[in-house]
Amino acid sequence: MTTPPTFAPRLDARLEAVLSLIQADTHADIGTDHAGLPIRLVQLGRVRRCIGIELNAPPLALARRQVARAGLSGQIDLRQGDGLAPLQPGEAESVSMTGLGAGTIAAVLERGRQAGRLPARAVVQCNDSPLSLRRWARVAGYWLSAETLAHGHWPYPVLALTRAAGTDPAYGDLPLEAALRFGPRLLRERHPLLRRVLADAYGRYAPAAAPGRPAADELAAVLAALEYLGWTARDLQEERQS
Ligand SMILES: C[S@@+](CC[C@H](N)C(=O)[O-])C[C@H]1O[C@@H](n2cnc3c(N)ncnc32)[C@H](O)[C@@H]1O
Repeated sequence: MTTPPTFAPRLDARLEAVLSLIQADTHADIGTDHAGLPIRLVQLGRVRRCIGIELNAPPLALARRQVARAGLSGQIDLRQGDGLAPLQPGEAESVSMTGLGAGTIAAVLERGRQAGRLPARAVVQCNDSPLSLRRWARVAGYWLSAETLAHGHWPYPVLALTRAAGTDPAYGDLPLEAALRFGPRLLRERHPLLRRVLADAYGRYAPAAAPGRPAADELAAVLAALEYLGWTARDLQEERQS
């Protein structure tokens, strides 16, 4: 008879979305902090073993307390260090990094890739525009195998990246700059939270989009996304007022 876990941390929608995209024998969570994701991954049987990596001592101490409370010190190995540096090459099949900026996550993945430590699959959730992550993945040889938006303070982007050769087919015939900013798979599936993302971007860039300014390029990408979706700027205004 199995005894139910005494401590099962509650994950928010963004970490639930990340969890649903992970299935591995050994997984590594970078910037693990409260260790909620590794604990639930093991408790739900989505991974057999997890390595939690944390740069800073106070969150690492919190992770150790949480893992001990869940009775999972044998399955969750916590290590202090920067990015993928504490991971041996080939040690984990997949990696996650969540709750940070896209630029920070892309830099950590790239350093890990150059050191030969980046596994073939990564699931990431950034707190800002995922543009730099999508750009990085195309150059680094990782295809966007899945993506979603999770409810929260704002729609949080969640991306699953899988190492593959050649050009990522997810982008296909989509307007590239729009797809890089708003997500090729999100555009194709007309994700329900995309309207809010586009409304926010339109509201930010339309007032500042004089010719030659960076906001003009951003606005052009918003308008290209709208054209692909068959929506108008008026549709977005209704979204912003609701
Ligand atoms: C905002 S918290 C997010 C915690 C958790 N991943 C989540 O999504 O709820 C970011 C954590 O990443 C850690 N961190 C930041 N940069 C890191 C790096 N280069 N390597 C390892 N951990 C890092 C921070 O110390 C912090 O505990």
